[in-house]
Amino acid sequence: MEKKSEGKDYRDPVKTDRSAARQHHHRGKSSEDHLDKNRILETLKLKPGQTVLDAGCGNGYMSFEFARQIGSAGRVFALDPDDRAIAGLRKRTGDIPVTPLVGDITTNTGLPAAAFDLIYLANVVHGFSAQQLQGFQVEVRRLLAPAGRLAIVELVKRPTPVGPPVELRFSPEDLVRILGLPWRATVEAGPWCYLLILGGVEAGLA
Ligand SMILES: C[S@@+](CC[C@H](N)C(=O)[O-])C[C@H]1O[C@@H](n2cnc3c(N)ncnc32)[C@H](O)[C@@H]1O
Repeated sequence: MEKKSEGKDYRDPVKTDRSAARQHHHRGKSSEDHLDKNRILETLKLKPGQTVLDAGCGNGYMSFEFARQIGSAGRVFALDPDDRAIAGLRKRTGDIPVTPLVGDITTNTGLPAAAFDLIYLANVVHGFSAQQLQGFQVEVRRLLAPAGRLAIVELVKRPTPVGPPVELRFSPEDLVRILGLPWRATVEAGPWCYLLILGGVEAGLA
């Protein structure tokens, strides 16, 4: 008789017990050293005047990069539940078009509906529980402009020198299936990370 596993199915990261996921948020920790920022920026091709949400912004290093690209006519909302990270960011924004906010992207953030050209999350989604993943889908759909894009950077789903347990990770295919938004592009974003872009259909953007 075939031996049954103990209810764990590592092929499906939603069916996997995700109760350990929330310990992998790494409050305030930055993944900057592991990411190819330039590759990410080149791929995203932001335009002056656009509105961006950097959800799970941590120390906000990408928020400032995005702000450089969208210029003073645009706005970057830098969101994180870590109030210390957001307090630190508030001290650094000055005239830069970055608005730091304490908030949770898996619930209603109170941000305006259909307002975002880009929602970006780097090394955040693997920390979500199954319930948070559902809330995330609802909030992302509410916030994205009709041609808006969702960009997710995550660790590849195989052992790497850094990163969360492999069973908590999502492959790009997992995320496409779970989030149900149109796939636009998958590119390498560092030695162990990928960038996945979803949505953006109306604008025909990748
Ligand atoms: C590994 S850090 C990555 C920070 C940053 N994105 C980077 O690439 O350096 C994960 C961040 O996600 C934030 N986070 C965790 N849960 C979140 C949620 N539900 N909504 C928004 N941010 C969240 C954590 O506080 C933490 O700052």
